[in-house]
Amino acid sequence: MNPILQNIKSRRSIRAFTDEPVDPDDLDRIVEAGLWAPSARGMQTWQFTILTDRQRIAALASAIATQLQRDPARYDMYAPAALVVASNDRENPHGMLDCSCALQNMFLAAHSLGLGSVWINQLRGICDEPAIRPLLDDLGIPPNHLVWGMAALGHPAGPPPEAPARRGVVHFVR
Ligand SMILES: Cc1cc2nc3c(=O)[nH]c(=O)nc-3n(C[C@H](O)[C@H](O)[C@H](O)COP(=O)(O)O)c2cc1C
Repeated sequence: MNPILQNIKSRRSIRAFTDEPVDPDDLDRIVEAGLWAPSARGMQTWQFTILTDRQRIAALASAIATQLQRDPARYDMYAPAALVVASNDRENPHGMLDCSCALQNMFLAAHSLGLGSVWINQLRGICDEPAIRPLLDDLGIPPNHLVWGMAALGHPAGPPPEAPARRGVVHFVR
Protein backbone atom coordinates (compact mmCIF):
# COMPACT_ATOMS: atom_id res chain seq x y z
CA MET A 1 0.00 0.00 0.00
CA ASN A 2 1.11 3.57 -0.60
CA PRO A 3 3.08 4.47 2.59
CA ILE A 4 1.04 7.60 3.25
CA LEU A 5 -2.23 5.68 3.14
CA GLN A 6 -0.65 2.97 5.28
CA ASN A 7 0.39 5.61 7.86
CA ILE A 8 -3.13 7.05 7.91
CA LYS A 9 -4.69 3.64 8.45
CA SER A 10 -2.25 2.37 11.08
CA ARG A 11 -2.28 5.50 13.30
CA ARG A 12 -4.10 4.93 16.57
CA SER A 13 -4.80 7.16 19.53
CA ILE A 14 -2.18 6.20 22.12
CA ARG A 15 -3.04 6.77 25.76
CA ALA A 16 -0.03 5.35 27.62
CA PHE A 17 3.49 6.67 27.27
CA THR A 18 6.93 5.70 28.57
CA ASP A 19 9.09 8.19 30.48
CA GLU A 20 11.40 8.61 27.50
CA PRO A 21 11.47 12.19 26.21
CA VAL A 22 10.63 13.00 22.61
CA ASP A 23 13.72 13.77 20.55
CA PRO A 24 13.71 17.58 19.97
CA ASP A 25 14.34 17.07 16.24
CA ASP A 26 11.30 14.80 16.05
CA LEU A 27 9.26 17.41 17.90
CA ASP A 28 10.37 19.99 15.34
CA ARG A 29 9.36 17.64 12.52
CA ILE A 30 5.96 17.05 14.08
CA VAL A 31 5.18 20.72 14.61
CA GLU A 32 6.45 21.56 11.14
CA ALA A 33 3.95 19.05 9.75
CA GLY A 34 1.29 21.08 11.57
CA LEU A 35 2.51 24.26 9.93
CA TRP A 36 2.05 22.64 6.51
CA ALA A 37 -1.64 21.94 7.12
CA PRO A 38 -4.25 23.80 5.10
CA SER A 39 -5.90 26.81 6.70
CA ALA A 40 -8.97 28.71 5.57
CA ARG A 41 -7.94 31.55 3.26
CA GLY A 42 -4.38 30.63 4.15
CA MET A 43 -4.71 32.74 7.29
CA GLN A 44 -2.33 30.69 9.50
CA THR A 45 -3.34 32.67 12.57
CA TRP A 46 -2.70 29.59 14.71
CA GLN A 47 -0.04 29.12 17.35
CA PHE A 48 1.39 25.79 18.43
CA THR A 49 2.73 26.00 21.96
CA ILE A 50 4.97 23.11 22.91
CA LEU A 51 5.47 21.87 26.46
CA THR A 52 8.10 19.29 27.35
CA ASP A 53 8.43 20.04 31.05
CA ARG A 54 6.50 17.31 32.83
CA GLN A 55 5.73 19.53 35.80
CA ARG A 56 4.19 22.18 33.57
CA ILE A 57 2.15 19.54 31.76
CA ALA A 58 1.01 18.10 35.09
CA ALA A 59 0.12 21.56 36.42
CA LEU A 60 -1.98 22.27 33.33
CA ALA A 61 -3.75 18.89 33.66
CA SER A 62 -4.42 19.53 37.32
CA ALA A 63 -5.94 22.97 36.63
CA ILE A 64 -8.14 21.52 33.89
CA ALA A 65 -9.29 18.71 36.17
CA THR A 66 -10.14 21.13 38.96
CA GLN A 67 -12.02 23.43 36.59
CA LEU A 68 -14.02 20.52 35.18
CA GLN A 69 -14.56 18.96 38.61
CA ARG A 70 -12.68 15.84 37.66
CA ASP A 71 -10.41 13.97 40.03
CA PRO A 72 -6.94 15.59 39.62
CA ALA A 73 -5.36 12.34 40.83
CA ARG A 74 -6.79 10.56 37.78
CA TYR A 75 -6.81 13.19 35.05
CA ASP A 76 -3.24 13.65 33.80
CA MET A 77 -3.78 13.94 30.04
CA TYR A 78 -2.00 10.53 29.94
CA ALA A 79 1.21 12.10 31.31
CA PRO A 80 2.77 12.63 27.88
CA ALA A 81 6.43 13.50 27.30
CA ALA A 82 5.34 16.44 25.16
CA LEU A 83 2.18 18.42 24.65
CA VAL A 84 1.28 20.66 21.72
CA VAL A 85 -1.38 23.24 22.52
CA ALA A 86 -3.07 24.38 19.30
CA SER A 87 -4.67 27.80 19.63
CA ASN A 88 -6.04 30.32 17.21
CA ASP A 89 -7.23 33.91 17.04
CA ARG A 90 -10.71 33.97 18.55
CA GLU A 91 -11.80 36.32 15.74
CA ASN A 92 -10.92 33.75 13.09
CA PRO A 93 -14.22 31.93 12.41
CA HIS A 94 -12.24 29.00 11.01
CA GLY A 95 -9.82 28.76 13.92
CA MET A 96 -11.07 25.43 15.21
CA LEU A 97 -11.12 23.86 11.75
CA ASP A 98 -7.63 25.07 10.95
CA CYS A 99 -6.27 23.75 14.25
CA SER A 100 -7.96 20.40 13.60
CA CYS A 101 -6.20 20.05 10.26
CA ALA A 102 -2.89 20.96 11.88
CA LEU A 103 -3.37 18.49 14.73
CA GLN A 104 -4.14 15.65 12.36
CA ASN A 105 -0.97 16.41 10.40
CA MET A 106 0.92 16.27 13.70
CA PHE A 107 -0.66 12.95 14.70
CA LEU A 108 0.30 11.43 11.37
CA ALA A 109 3.82 12.86 11.53
CA ALA A 110 4.25 11.49 15.06
CA HIS A 111 3.08 8.06 13.97
CA SER A 112 5.44 8.06 10.99
CA LEU A 113 8.30 8.69 13.44
CA GLY A 114 7.27 5.81 15.71
CA LEU A 115 5.71 8.06 18.33
CA GLY A 116 2.25 7.86 19.86
CA SER A 117 -0.25 10.66 20.04
CA VAL A 118 -3.77 11.47 21.10
CA TRP A 119 -6.05 14.49 20.93
CA ILE A 120 -6.73 16.08 24.32
CA ASN A 121 -9.96 18.04 24.20
CA GLN A 122 -10.71 19.34 27.67
CA LEU A 123 -9.13 22.80 27.46
CA ARG A 124 -11.53 23.78 24.72
CA GLY A 125 -14.34 25.84 26.20
CA ILE A 126 -12.60 26.76 29.45
CA CYS A 127 -9.71 28.93 28.19
CA ASP A 128 -11.18 32.14 29.55
CA GLU A 129 -12.02 30.81 32.99
CA PRO A 130 -10.24 32.84 35.68
CA ALA A 131 -8.44 29.73 36.96
CA ILE A 132 -7.18 28.81 33.48
CA ARG A 133 -6.31 31.97 31.54
CA PRO A 134 -3.37 32.96 33.78
CA LEU A 135 -1.83 29.53 33.11
CA LEU A 136 -2.19 30.10 29.37
CA ASP A 137 -0.63 33.55 29.82
CA ASP A 138 2.33 31.89 31.54
CA LEU A 139 2.72 29.57 28.58
CA GLY A 140 2.80 32.50 26.15
CA ILE A 141 -0.56 31.77 24.57
CA PRO A 142 -1.91 35.12 23.35
CA PRO A 143 -4.95 36.49 25.22
CA ASN A 144 -6.85 36.78 21.93
CA HIS A 145 -6.39 33.07 21.30
CA LEU A 146 -8.67 30.16 22.12
CA VAL A 147 -7.27 26.67 22.50
CA TRP A 148 -9.03 24.30 20.14
CA GLY A 149 -7.19 21.09 20.90
CA MET A 150 -3.98 19.58 22.19
CA ALA A 151 -1.75 16.75 21.05
CA ALA A 152 -0.28 14.54 23.74
CA LEU A 153 2.90 12.95 22.38
CA GLY A 154 5.34 10.33 23.55
CA HIS A 155 6.80 6.89 23.09
CA PRO A 156 4.00 4.31 23.29
CA ALA A 157 4.12 2.26 26.49
CA GLY A 158 2.68 -0.80 24.79
CA PRO A 159 1.24 -2.12 21.56
CA PRO A 160 -1.36 0.04 19.83
CA PRO A 161 -5.01 -0.66 20.64
CA GLU A 162 -7.06 -2.49 18.12
CA ALA A 163 -8.48 -0.20 15.49
CA PRO A 164 -12.08 0.77 16.20
CA ALA A 165 -14.33 -0.33 13.36
CA ARG A 166 -14.87 2.43 10.81
CA ARG A 167 -18.57 3.18 10.76
CA GLY A 168 -18.74 6.45 8.84
CA VAL A 169 -21.11 6.56 5.91
CA VAL A 170 -19.55 6.81 2.47
CA HIS A 171 -22.14 7.53 -0.16
CA PHE A 172 -21.08 7.74 -3.78
CA VAL A 173 -23.57 9.49 -6.02
CA ARG A 174 -23.10 7.95 -9.45
C1 LIG B 1 -12.17 16.27 18.30
C2 LIG B 1 -11.58 15.08 19.02
C3 LIG B 1 -11.50 15.10 20.40
C4 LIG B 1 -10.92 14.03 21.08
N1 LIG B 1 -10.74 14.13 22.43
C5 LIG B 1 -10.11 13.13 23.09
C6 LIG B 1 -9.82 13.26 24.46
O1 LIG B 1 -10.06 14.29 25.08
N2 LIG B 1 -9.22 12.22 25.09
C7 LIG B 1 -8.91 11.06 24.41
O2 LIG B 1 -8.38 10.14 25.04
N3 LIG B 1 -9.15 10.92 23.09
C8 LIG B 1 -9.73 11.92 22.41
N4 LIG B 1 -9.94 11.83 21.07
C9 LIG B 1 -9.50 10.60 20.34
C10 LIG B 1 -10.68 9.71 19.92
O3 LIG B 1 -11.25 9.10 21.06
C11 LIG B 1 -10.15 8.66 18.92
O4 LIG B 1 -9.64 9.31 17.80
C12 LIG B 1 -11.24 7.69 18.50
O5 LIG B 1 -11.64 6.89 19.59
C13 LIG B 1 -10.79 6.77 17.35
O6 LIG B 1 -9.60 6.07 17.70
P1 LIG B 1 -8.27 6.19 16.81
O7 LIG B 1 -7.78 7.61 16.91
O8 LIG B 1 -7.31 5.21 17.40
O9 LIG B 1 -8.62 5.84 15.38
C14 LIG B 1 -10.49 12.88 20.36
C15 LIG B 1 -10.58 12.87 18.98
C16 LIG B 1 -11.10 13.96 18.31
C17 LIG B 1 -11.14 13.95 16.79
